[in-house]
Amino acid sequence: MTTLSLLVRGAAEVFPSGGDPVIPKGVVGVIGGRVVHVGTADTLAAAGLVVGPGTQVIDAEDGLVTPGLVDPHTHLVFAGDRAHEYALRAHGASYQEIARAGGGIAHTMAMTRKATEEELIALAAPRLDRLLRQGVTTAEVKSGYGLDLDSELKLLRVIRRLDRAHPVDLVPTFLGAHVVPPEYRGDRARYVNLVVHDMLPEVAREGLAAFCDVFVEDTAFHPDEAVRILRAASALGLKPKLHVDQLSDGGGARLAASVDAVSADHLEHAGVEGIRALAKAGTAAVLLPGATLFLGQSARPPARALLDAGVPVALATDCNPGTCPTENLPLMLTLGMSLLGLSPTEVLRGVTDHAARAIGRGEVAGHLAAGRPADLVVFDVPSHVHLPYHFGTHHARVVVKHGQVAWRRPPEPSLLGPLCEA
Ligand code: NIG
Ligand code: FE
Repeated sequence: MTTLSLLVRGAAEVFPSGGDPVIPKGVVGVIGGRVVHVGTADTLAAAGLVVGPGTQVIDAEDGLVTPGLVDPHTHLVFAGDRAHEYALRAHGASYQEIARAGGGIAHTMAMTRKATEEELIALAAPRLDRLLRQGVTTAEVKSGYGLDLDSELKLLRVIRRLDRAHPVDLVPTFLGAHVVPPEYRGDRARYVNLVVHDMLPEVAREGLAAFCDVFVEDTAFHPDEAVRILRAASALGLKPKLHVDQLSDGGGARLAASVDAVSADHLEHAGVEGIRALAKAGTAAVLLPGATLFLGQSARPPARALLDAGVPVALATDCNPGTCPTENLPLMLTLGMSLLGLSPTEVLRGVTDHAARAIGRGEVAGHLAAGRPADLVVFDVPSHVHLPYHFGTHHARVVVKHGQVAWRRPPEPSLLGPLCEA
């Protein structure tokens, strides 16, 4: 007999992800920070795993249990907002027009450069809290609103401090090549040199990032610049990621495959050849349907074709002030189904095992199985189909990180008065 430290029981369904089948009336047993059993009450008993006086029991109350969700693409650390640009777009201005007129990322950059580390932490921590409350236990976070050496380092140090202080595990990505900042507009080669010769070595020396990302677009970086930056990054141990084919087809999917990127993100305009190249290279796709929706884009990333080709498809919030100001990862499940044509299982894998794989955490996140870290969520829906179905509202009830309850929804009194007298 072995005593559990935590038991989740009373679920209508456990969705373990990782390609494992859904378990009706499933249970999850935990010892310390690790899952020891995913099965049913019977298989738990057969394994000799029991509840003792010190076991914390979570009653899932006929809800759904999933792995802790993984948000594989966010720009969570920034100052200011861009609500005014959203209003401008309602009057017909496009994202690229606003960027060319000096707004967009450059606007957030100006606000972010002025903020101290402490101010940025105070701004980002509530965003991280909101992610956690949606069920997210691991998230990738990019720099990219500093765009000079000190400001980029400041953002990455903020990400590191947040990671140490907050239950959500953060995976840091250096995005010094987000756009060419205004002071280098006349000489973009000099900015690329700054990224390669000054920023990357310092980021690597301080161990501040696992990945290096580049935004490839007419208004950002060209493919040859991206290759140069990502090669330099790889030599320093930072693995490549790319923002590609978001607003136009720039051959980005093929580019991502050619540099062995861990993930290619956005892909609204990716074509057949690019999809094949991604599959061959083993590059994951990270799709951001919230950004597609928020920008009112008609082009949709080819989610079905990517999956058919064997590319793992992940979904992310892209949480950022310009193209997707939301921390609602479960909403991306609905958009993944309604905008991208994916199934409930496919969208859930998009925010669990496929998402973990897209940020190099495939071994430790996104899959509930014995031996893996005990990150899980109890949702107040009766099945994995209901999570994307009942959309735009909040469903996470308990979020467990490393075997500890990291957040629990406070009881809400019903506003309904008595229906009838006893
Ligand atoms: O993922 N595409 C580039 N980066 C972000 C947008 C950042 C911004 O507009 O502030 C994105 O959509
Ligand atoms: Fe992004």
